[in-house]
Amino acid sequence: MRSINIGLFGFGCVGEGFYKILTSQPNSPFTIRKIVIKDETKERNVPGELLTTNPDDVFSDPEINLVVELINGNETAFNIVSQALSRRIPVVTANKKMLATHYGKLRQLVAQFETPLLYEGAVCGAIPILKTIDQYFRFDPITEIAGIFNGTTNYILTRQFEENSAFGETLLDAQKLGYAELDASSDVDAFDPKYKLKLVLAHAFGLDVPTDQILNLGISAIKEQDLAYAKNKGLKYRLMSKVVRREQQISAFVLPTLVNTHETAYNVNYANNFAEFKTDHGEEHIMIGKGAGSLPTGSAVFADVQHIATYGKGYQHEDTNDYQFTNETVLEVIISANNPEDLSQITFEEVFQEYASSDFFYKTGKILISELIKLQSAPVFVGLTSSEVFSPQTEAVLSLA
Ligand code: HSE
Repeated sequence: MRSINIGLFGFGCVGEGFYKILTSQPNSPFTIRKIVIKDETKERNVPGELLTTNPDDVFSDPEINLVVELINGNETAFNIVSQALSRRIPVVTANKKMLATHYGKLRQLVAQFETPLLYEGAVCGAIPILKTIDQYFRFDPITEIAGIFNGTTNYILTRQFEENSAFGETLLDAQKLGYAELDASSDVDAFDPKYKLKLVLAHAFGLDVPTDQILNLGISAIKEQDLAYAKNKGLKYRLMSKVVRREQQISAFVLPTLVNTHETAYNVNYANNFAEFKTDHGEEHIMIGKGAGSLPTGSAVFADVQHIATYGKGYQHEDTNDYQFTNETVLEVIISANNPEDLSQITFEEVFQEYASSDFFYKTGKILISELIKLQSAPVFVGLTSSEVFSPQTEAVLSLA
């Protein structure tokens, strides 16, 4: 293994976890040469001479042959990563928002400068999902993916179901434990798992789907009555990310989903994540692990650093035009609100049931994903009620369980 001199950007929760793992290795070929931070007044448990606020201290050091980017922020992170790639310095990052929003441009830089960019820590913390898709499912086409791609919301939902804890209190704890994003609305409104889903779609199907075309509805509007509805049926809510392939058509979304005791998600608790893959030949595979947190995510970043040191190359997936992304797919859902007017504007393909009390109203039925996308800022809570998806034309049923 060649020796690797690292310029580290960011020393937050993941940066510190990565640093701890890296510096605890015996006979390590890895050296951290510089750590670029924003706030120099903060106390940090690292030798002071490593710290700088000037990114040029990394880019002007000819000994640095790997950049690890772990800052909060999108454009600044993109600038750091593109600068490194343009100088042919390999990059490891865990910045899912930056990767999802600049995916096409980053792919172009990787190809142009023939320089690896790895980001396993961006998707489901410690679980090696992307490398598994690249290496194992490349020749065994995936038909379905279902998983929990966000630790914060899983932590909140677990405590709501197991302990009857209040939403606000559990979110605060998730923040204290280092699970939540700096802007926690990215977690609770399901943007964070959507960015991860976008990366999964790119690796599994060679698709670069614009993030605004991927449905993401979160749990910020969940009410006591929604929790009671699930509990009365012996079910739980989990924020699920799902992909289904029907021939060359791909649908994907992130939605709170009612799960029963037989489903994997039912027993995936707290900040754990999982991903279940169905493939043409290998059938079913499930990976469960820590989806967030300092050391788990730091361990995925460290694995990428080792990958570059060992193999000197990045991911092997290709961009293709083999698949088309579609939101013209029908799902079965429950949509609830505190005001009946908030439900009356929503177009269902078919309504199964309507319920009204003094302050809780819901409808269940079939609805197109393209209709659900319109509800992203509506004062309603949407839950997926069935693991089946339907084509509007054929009514053909596919299991998403
Ligand atoms: N906020 C993210 C989560 C961190 O809760 O899953 C890990 O990506």
